[in-house]
Amino acid sequence: GSTLQAAAAESGRYFGTAIAGFRLSDSAYTTIANREFNMITAENEMKIDATEPNQNQFSYGAGDQIVNWARSNGKQVRGHTLAWHSQQPGWMQNMSGSALRSAMLNHVTQVATHYRGQIHSWDVVNEAFQDGSSGARRDSNLQRTGNDWIEAAFRAARAADPNAKLCYNDYNTDDWTHAKTQAVYNLVRDFKARGVPIDCVGFQSHFNSQSPVPGNYQTTLSSFAALGVDVQITELDIEGSGTAQADNYRRVVQACLAVSRCTGISVWGVRDTDSWRASGTPLLFDGNGNKKPAYTATLNAL
Ligand code: XIL
Repeated sequence: GSTLQAAAAESGRYFGTAIAGFRLSDSAYTTIANREFNMITAENEMKIDATEPNQNQFSYGAGDQIVNWARSNGKQVRGHTLAWHSQQPGWMQNMSGSALRSAMLNHVTQVATHYRGQIHSWDVVNEAFQDGSSGARRDSNLQRTGNDWIEAAFRAARAADPNAKLCYNDYNTDDWTHAKTQAVYNLVRDFKARGVPIDCVGFQSHFNSQSPVPGNYQTTLSSFAALGVDVQITELDIEGSGTAQADNYRRVVQACLAVSRCTGISVWGVRDTDSWRASGTPLLFDGNGNKKPAYTATLNAL
């Protein structure tokens, strides 16, 4: 294939990107996005603060704009994200206990129902585990509603949109030896053993010198897949430039392609200048929309 989406499709996979709604008026941006990618994640527009700015008043305009752009261009959509400690609206930040539990489940149900049938995979829960060596859950207002909040969210999502794949999504879960990776693995293993609905695990894969592509990345992907879930690389960006960056992108693609249940790769933005990273050049296109060595390495590895 001569584009990322065409090359990925040769092995039955997708290749996606995050899209920011405010950039859809930039034709240089949409030209690349439309040509190269066939899976779209809203960078911010489907998060809790965007979709429920006031309790029980839902706001779907910005999310719908991205979903409509994707679907009208023949692309699928990853839903991101239904339950998360971050980017909560103020009203939710101030809630706790059973009222918060009910509000969170209502949010999951309402948003998944609004987009029912239009979402390939939902990041039902995002970033629920701590970094470091503890392997513990991240402390948050959601976690303080009870340890079963994650499975409650997954059950609500399944009831609302039975055909969407339901994913747990996190970062720093790429190195198989890390406590956080093992903690997420144990969560998924427990869910599968007890019949809690989960279909996929998303590996954000924001890599940099502090958090490089681990040598055992493929082992991580294959170990999760062996639990009976799909794995997806959901927010890939890799700090660096030139040959070193290209080599790292190649390693990520090769790891995914070596795992049959690694069903797709999404990068977290189109051009370096679109990246959420305040500085640096972590993506596949430079600020002028030119293909970088990382692009060519990725395309050739697919
Ligand atoms: C980031 C967006 O890219 C930024 O625009 C926003 O200001 C903060 O969130 N993990 C995630 C994504 O799951 O939702 C985050 O996106 C990046 C880290």
